[in-house]
Amino acid sequence: MCGIVGYLGSNHAAPVLLSKLRVLEYRGYDSAGVAVIESGRLNVLKAVGKLSNLETLLQKERPSATVGIGHTRWATHGSPTDENAHPHINASGTLAIVHNGIIENYSELKADLIAKGYVFRSDTDTEVAAHLLSHEVEKDGDVLAAILRTVSQMSGAYALGIVSQNSPDRIYAVNHHYSLTVGLGENESFLASDSAAVRQYTNKILRLAQSEIAEIRADGVRLFSFDGAESSREPVAVEASAYKIDKEGYKHFLLKEINEQPLVLRQTLSKYLSGADKQVNFNVDSFSPDIEGMYGVKMTDEEIRSIDRVQIVACGTAYHAGMVGKYVIEELCGIPVEVDIASEVRGRKLLGNERTLSIAVSQSGETADTLAAVKDAISNGSFTLGITNRPDSHLAQLTQNLIVTECGIEVSVAATKTYAAQLICFYLLAIYLAEKRGSITPERARQLKVGLNQLPGVVEQILGREEEYRRESLKLADAQDVVFIGRGFNYPTALEGALKLKELSYIHASGYAAGELKHGPIAVLDSSVPVITVLVPGKVYEKTLSNAQESRARNARMVAICVDGDETAPKTFDYFFRIPAVEELLSPIVTVVPMQLMSYFVADYLGKDVDQPRNLAKSVTVE
Ligand code: F6R
Repeated sequence: MCGIVGYLGSNHAAPVLLSKLRVLEYRGYDSAGVAVIESGRLNVLKAVGKLSNLETLLQKERPSATVGIGHTRWATHGSPTDENAHPHINASGTLAIVHNGIIENYSELKADLIAKGYVFRSDTDTEVAAHLLSHEVEKDGDVLAAILRTVSQMSGAYALGIVSQNSPDRIYAVNHHYSLTVGLGENESFLASDSAAVRQYTNKILRLAQSEIAEIRADGVRLFSFDGAESSREPVAVEASAYKIDKEGYKHFLLKEINEQPLVLRQTLSKYLSGADKQVNFNVDSFSPDIEGMYGVKMTDEEIRSIDRVQIVACGTAYHAGMVGKYVIEELCGIPVEVDIASEVRGRKLLGNERTLSIAVSQSGETADTLAAVKDAISNGSFTLGITNRPDSHLAQLTQNLIVTECGIEVSVAATKTYAAQLICFYLLAIYLAEKRGSITPERARQLKVGLNQLPGVVEQILGREEEYRRESLKLADAQDVVFIGRGFNYPTALEGALKLKELSYIHASGYAAGELKHGPIAVLDSSVPVITVLVPGKVYEKTLSNAQESRARNARMVAICVDGDETAPKTFDYFFRIPAVEELLSPIVTVVPMQLMSYFVADYLGKDVDQPRNLAKSVTVE
C-alpha cells in the first residue's frame, strides 16, 4: 500500500509529483504529501484525505522547486492524521522520507532513538527511519553512507524515497523486497512505486532489485547494494504508453469498468484462444517489452500430466476467482484442488511438492500475503503459476508460469473487470490442462470453447438491462443486512456479491453456500433481510431453490438472479435480476454482473465514494 513518487529535473516538481500521485492514488487515499527542496531548503506540504486536498494546498503554495518526493498513504501505523501523513522529517527539518511497507523492528529502534533524545511527532514506523537516518547523516554528512548504515539496522520489507538538504541535487531510493522504478528522461529523472507512474513521462525505466539503493540525479542513476558495492545496469526501453485516467463519460470508473467486461473477455479470449485450431495457448508475446519471455505456461506436457494436486492462493475478489477455479479444474481435470486465503497460509505449513501446481491469483501482483504464499510454494519445489493483471509485478517475477489478464489498468478500488478476466483465465487454464491430460473429450473441449466465445455477447446483453437492474437494486437500498446464497459454481459468486455490496455501500452483507444457511445463518433472517439467491439451471438448481424456500418461510425479502424464462422462480421470489441462460459451469462470469451493478447502484444512491471506498486500498502490500 501507499505510493511513492519522486522527480528531479528542470521543471517544477510539484505538478509532476501530483500527476504521478494521481496514478498511484489507488494504493491509498488517507493522506498525501510532498517534500521539495527549494533554494537549498526543505519544504514539506501535506494534507489529510484525498489527493485533491493536497492539490488545493499546492495550488495555494505554488512551490517552485525542481526536486522532490511525494506520497499517498494507506494508514498502517497510526491513524490518518496530518502528523502521520508522509513525508516525515528529522528534528532539524533537513531531510524527508516517504515510505511504503513496514519496518518490523521499529519499536526497538524507536525506544533506542528516544533514549538518545529524539522526539517523535507521529505514530508511524516511517518517522523512525527519518530520525535514524538523520542520526547517521550527522556522523559524517554523507547521505549515501548514512543510508547504508540505516538499512543495516532496519528489518522488514519496505521502500523509501529520500531527499536531504545535504544533497539537494539528488533523490535516494531504497528498495528492500518491495517495488520501485526509476525513470530516466532528458535531463530529468523520475521515481515511483508503480512503473505506470513513470511511464507517463519516459520509456526508459530501471526497476530496482530486491535490496538496492539508487542515487538518482537529473542526468542518471547510480545503483548500490546494501553492502555498498556499486553496480550498473542499463535501463530498459518500454512502451511509453501514457497512463490515461479517463471516465469516458461514465459517472464513475467502477461503472466504466463493469461495462468494459465484454471487451476484456473478448481480448483475453482472442489472446489465448486464437488460431485456426482454437487451441488454448498461453505462450504469447508480452505487451510489455521489458518483461518479454516471462509470459505463458512453460510446463512440459509430461510435467502437466505429473500434477496430482493443485493449490490456489489469493485474497479478496481474487480468492473468489480461485474458488471458481477450484470447481472448474476439479470438474474438467479431475485433480484435487485446494483454495487458500493467502493470509491463512502465513504461519502455517503449506503442503506441496514437485507434483503440485501452486496457482497465485492477484490483480495487482503485489499483495504481500499472496507473494509470501508463492515463496512457500517455491520452497516446496512446486510448479508455480501466477494470474495477474500486472506483468511488471512481483508475482510475475516470482512465478515460473504466468497468465496475464488483458484488462488494462483497473482504477476503481473494487475489482470487477479483473474478476471477469481471472475467471476466463481459469476456464482456459482448466481446458488447457484437461486437454493435455486427456481428461475431457475433444467434443467437450470444443463445446466449452464455443460457450466461452459466447460469453462476451451474453455479458453485453446483461449490461443492456442496466435500467431494469437499477430499479430493482434501489428497492434494496434500505437494508441493514443482506444475505447472498449460491451453490456449486455459484457459491463463490454469492461470496463475491456480498463483498462487492459491503465494500461499496458499507451495508453489512454475507455470502453463504446455500445449503449451509440452515446450519446457523438462517437465524438472522426476518422480513427486513434480503436474501439474494443465484439460481441458474443445472445440477444444483432444485436444491438451491429449496434453500431459497427455507428463507422465504422466514419471511425474508427474496431476490433471484435467475435466467430468462424461469417460470418456477416467481413462486419463491419477490425481486428479479434476469439473465440469459448459459451453461452452469460458465455461469459465474454472467451471474456476478447483476451483483456488481446492484452494488454500484445502491452505493451511488446512498452517496458513497464508489471508486475509493473508505478504509480500502487497491494494492495491499502489507501482511
Ligand atoms: C475487492 C478487491 C480486493 C482484492 C484483494 C486482492 O473488490 O479488490 O478484495 O481482490 O485485495 O488484491 P489483488 O488481486 O491485487 O491481490
